[in-house]
Amino acid sequence: MELKIIPLFFSTLLVLFQVSFSTGQTVVKGGYWFPGSGFAISGINSTLFTHLFCAFADVNSQTYQVTISSSNQAQFQTFTSTVQQKNPSVKTLLSIGGGGSDVTTFASMASQSSSRKSFIDSSIKLARSNNFHGLDLDWEYPSDSTQMNNFGTLLTEWRTAVAAEAKSSGKTPLLLSAAVLYLSYYYSSSVTYPTQAISNNLDWINLMAYDFYGPGWSPSSTGPPAALYNPGSQQSGDNGVKSWIQAGLSAKKLVLGLPFYGWSWRLTNANNHGLFAPANGQGLAGDGSIGYNQIKQYITQNGATKVFNATVVTDYCYSGTTWIGYDDTQSISTKVAYAKGKGLLGYFAWHVGADDNWTLSTKEARAGTIYETTTTHSFLWLLSFTIPPDSDLLSACEDRHVETLDLVGLLMRAARLTASQQMHIGGLKFWLD
Ligand SMILES: *[C@@H]1O[C@H](CO)[C@@H](O)[C@H](O)[C@H]1NC(C)=O
Ligand SMILES: *[C@@H]1O[C@H](CO)[C@@H](O)[C@H](O)[C@H]1NC(C)=O
Ligand SMILES: *[C@@H]1O[C@H](CO)[C@@H](O)[C@H](O)[C@H]1NC(C)=O
Repeated sequence: MELKIIPLFFSTLLVLFQVSFSTGQTVVKGGYWFPGSGFAISGINSTLFTHLFCAFADVNSQTYQVTISSSNQAQFQTFTSTVQQKNPSVKTLLSIGGGGSDVTTFASMASQSSSRKSFIDSSIKLARSNNFHGLDLDWEYPSDSTQMNNFGTLLTEWRTAVAAEAKSSGKTPLLLSAAVLYLSYYYSSSVTYPTQAISNNLDWINLMAYDFYGPGWSPSSTGPPAALYNPGSQQSGDNGVKSWIQAGLSAKKLVLGLPFYGWSWRLTNANNHGLFAPANGQGLAGDGSIGYNQIKQYITQNGATKVFNATVVTDYCYSGTTWIGYDDTQSISTKVAYAKGKGLLGYFAWHVGADDNWTLSTKEARAGTIYETTTTHSFLWLLSFTIPPDSDLLSACEDRHVETLDLVGLLMRAARLTASQQMHIGGLKFWLD
């Protein structure tokens, strides 16, 4: 038995090793920056990121051309050279749209060939003339099946144009990504994202796995704004990731969103301060949102009590009747470990200016070192991109984030071994430990 299994073990390793390197697999440790954050571009610690998104360019509602507003012009133009001072290899993408942009403009732009062309051609010109390495579409959200279809057509034409431009200019093709809803469908199984067009034409998608709960739309009880797990509800990052994989998208196209901010509520009763406790709207001024750096200040200034709930993977804090749900270091590192365990391409943060002296970004980068292509571990993680998720043992490993056990699980799954053979190789875990 051993004699058969061990050579299989190593030959599988070797084959997959070659596969993983020939695909040139990269990793995304991303972060968005936007001018309204008031955070200087030169202050971004770009050594902690592989990709930085500059948000947002706009779409003209008459011409459908992509433009940079005059007030953003100077900062956007020097974004790439500024962030590359600290990290010459960081890649930058110009983000188009965003939550505040007009969805009807996107819907009508995508509905006609001429307006799609206007959008596509102007976006490529703008990216090149401002030295970005790529473009990121933040249409929030295509919301019926016609719009989903048109979104797919747009992506196909965009990729064709990007490839043609690269050929004629001799430059590296622009990267293309999109920020999408955390689910692979828009709240209805009949309004699904065009998974095939996404897979064929985008380098990856950014899953906005946050804002599940907030005082504006769920005012009567507190909630975990960016729960990774949420028993009994579909509102969780894990459910989102699973929906995309189930829809047929490869895990290596998925980048998990992490919020560097939280939402605040006013508790009905200061002594009832758990998750889903009765509340009455927002707990802080404005829309009730608060950046991570300000949350840290709030905790210090008010002596707030901090709680990490490992079941849901969220942090929250409370002081008197003020309650804030957010992601602190434990939630962030758990989510990065999750992304790694599921074989995702990486993670991104909204937004880098809300970090507290790079605490969360550093946590991410450390938890994400497993992704680095120079370590044995990461090479083994790359293997998980190439193997369909069909082993119970492997999911058990992934759920526990046990690297060596994962390793054994991956190889067993790769080798398609029987249960008794798996038991046998399982013994290797102890040796590897
Ligand atoms: C930026 O991050 C690096 C770690 O990659 C760290 O060594 C450095 O001190 C950080 N710089 C600042 C200004 O925080
Ligand atoms: C975490 O949150 C869940 C969901 O609200 C709850 O059932 C569980 O008791 C919490 N865990 C702890 C340790 O408080
Ligand atoms: C920021 O972090 C650096 C290194 O992690 C530390 O040396 C410095 O004191 C911190 N600054 C503040 C204001 O906390």
